[in-house]
This record gives sequence, structure tokens and C-alpha cells, in this order.
Amino acid sequence: MIGKKTMTMTKTYWIERNKTINVDWSAKTVVYCRNIFKHINIPKGNVVMLGAAYSLALEVLVGQFGKRAMGVDKWNFGNHPQCITEDIFDLDDFDCAFVYCDVASFSHIAQQNPCPRLTAFEWSLRNLVPGGYCLTRMYGYSDQDMKSTQHLMRIVDKHNVTILPIPGNFRGSDWDSKDDVLLRKKG
Ligand SMILES: C[S@@+](CC[C@H](N)C(=O)[O-])C[C@H]1O[C@@H](n2cnc3c(N)ncnc32)[C@H](O)[C@@H]1O
Repeated sequence: MIGKKTMTMTKTYWIERNKTINVDWSAKTVVYCRNIFKHINIPKGNVVMLGAAYSLALEVLVGQFGKRAMGVDKWNFGNHPQCITEDIFDLDDFDCAFVYCDVASFSHIAQQNPCPRLTAFEWSLRNLVPGGYCLTRMYGYSDQDMKSTQHLMRIVDKHNVTILPIPGNFRGSDWDSKDDVLLRKKG
């Protein structure tokens, strides 16, 4: 039997989960990617959807940034031509102007060691160029969520970034922009 700590590492788990929350053009990643660049200017460089799933949000980025946009996922579920199939634990470093950090999930932080979401978050902050931005979920409501925030804050403290609220107030049926942040690389 597969344990709670390892189930989120399986393709089957992500096929089922992605069917429930990222199935259409109202997904929060899509809404953010459509709107966020009306509020921020990003430097030159790669625009990355880390955890692309079916690549709907990636397609929105491609519409705005063309070949600068790319996705990364352990499984390229949408067979998007600009998504590379790579495990976050094996992803090489490269400079990024914008990263939407959505590998695995905030709710599963620290349930595995090493943890894919924390590894993705650290990868994102490490690879941002000065003036670049990372968008990700940082906050929540339960005691477990608060522990997840603390794990993320320990990574924030190691990198030269400022935490900013999401500009605008976006809400969906199962999400709230108050949970999410923009992190800007100083310099
Ligand atoms: C919350 S979903 C991403 C949703 C997507 N951003 C969207 O807009 O529809 C998380 C994704 O992380 C991917 N993932 C899980 N573990 C991973 C790992 N170790 N390396 C890379 N991707 C991983 C899953 O395949 C899944 O598609």
C-alpha cells in the first residue's frame, strides 16, 4: 500500500488532483497569468511555470511572452511543446525573470524529505535575476498551513527578496489571492 508521504510523488496522484483543480480557464494560475503583468514590469529573461500540469497557464504566458515562456513538470500532462519534462530535484539552474512556483503543493509541504515544493521554491528564489519576480502560495489558515509558511520563510531569509502582496483582489471557488504573494529579487 502506498503511504501518505509517498502518494504525492506518483503520476496517478497528480492526474487525479489536476482533474479537480486545474481543469479549465478559471484556474487561479490562469487568472493570475492573465492579469499580473498589468501590475508589474519584469526584466529580460525566461518566464517559467514551474509545475505546469496541463499547461493552460503556460499557454497564457506563451501568448504574452512567446518563446521566453517555458513550463517544467515531472510529467508534461498537456504535451505542451514549451514544457520540459523534468523532476524538480534534477532541474539545472538558469536565470529567470519570472517564476510561477507551483510544483506539488503548499498543502503537502514537509510531508516528504526532500520536499518537492520547498525545493521548487528555493530553485525559484535562487534563479531570479535582480528585479525578477516569483509568484507562489505562502499563507493559509490551519496550524499546518502556518508551519508550511515557516518552512518557506526560512528559505526567504537566505535570499535577497522582498515579499509583496498580489496586486488586485482575485478570488475563485476554492482559492483566495490573500494566500499568495509576489517575491521580488532585490538589486
Ligand atoms: C498544483 S499542480 C500545478 C498546476 C498548474 N500550475 C496549473 O496551472 O494548472 C502541481 C504539479 O506539480 C507537478 N509535480 C509534482 N512533483 C513534482 C516534481 N518532483 N518535479 C516536478 N514537478 C512535480 C505535478 O505533476 C503537478 O502537475
